[in-house]
Amino acid sequence: MIDEQKLQKSLSGRLIGRKVIYLKTIDSTNDCAFDLARKGVDEGAVILADEQTKGKGRLQRVWQSPPGLNIYTSVILRPSLQPAVAPQITLTAGVAVADLLSQYGLRRVSLKWPNDVQIGGRKVCGILTEMKALGDRVDFVVVGIGLNVNMRKEDFDAGIRDRATSIREETGGVIPRQELAVQLYHHLEKWYKMLLQEGFSPVRERWLAFAGILGRKIRVEAGKDAQGGEVTGVDEDGALITKNESGLRQRVITGDIIVERD
Ligand code: BTN
Repeated sequence: MIDEQKLQKSLSGRLIGRKVIYLKTIDSTNDCAFDLARKGVDEGAVILADEQTKGKGRLQRVWQSPPGLNIYTSVILRPSLQPAVAPQITLTAGVAVADLLSQYGLRRVSLKWPNDVQIGGRKVCGILTEMKALGDRVDFVVVGIGLNVNMRKEDFDAGIRDRATSIREETGGVIPRQELAVQLYHHLEKWYKMLLQEGFSPVRERWLAFAGILGRKIRVEAGKDAQGGEVTGVDEDGALITKNESGLRQRVITGDIIVERD
């Protein structure tokens, strides 16, 4: 069980989690956070839910969100950035989660562009970032994080069972979600401040280390279009950069990537 008051206390003096809104059930924490941000709620406010009835994933997918098992949270940020570089926030959040899991003693943690955190190649966390711009500035960004904590293999929908995992599946033990949520917000704050103070470079470096795809060949599936090539980096806009066989440089800004076997 999550205790909103204790959670709020553990986060006192912090930026992320300065205001905690804990909900037993909600359609989507991202939609809730977006509405609140539009009404002017401050940077650092977090929405945390025990269950989502309409959890949203990337590319209009559903995010499975049963009660009492996982972390579904959305964080309101108001970075002073241009909208074009807002995807840096998604990569920053991915690094924060990957770092958190590594510190929980989990090995084989990796990142898959743009926003999947994996353990042993199975997805344990998804991140959905939504933004509102005001002219050439970001008004706010909502960073939605779905972390599979205590789900067992049989709890996953059949269609994703073989591709998804949870911390419990990987460690064999039930994880108290409250402490994990506190640590998640700490890691997000650490990496968000790093981005604002030192720029994208340290985030990019850590992201590439977790992704392990520099120099690897990938295929990109985005609707009917397919492209591919060797990964040469991530640019300032958070796009993945590839070079195809003719040496043509391409930017991957959407879709799913598949890393080809060597
Ligand atoms: C993805 O990998 O497709 C992104 C999944 C993001 C899921 C989280 S759960 C909390 C927040 N609220 C939502 O409706 N979605 C995000």
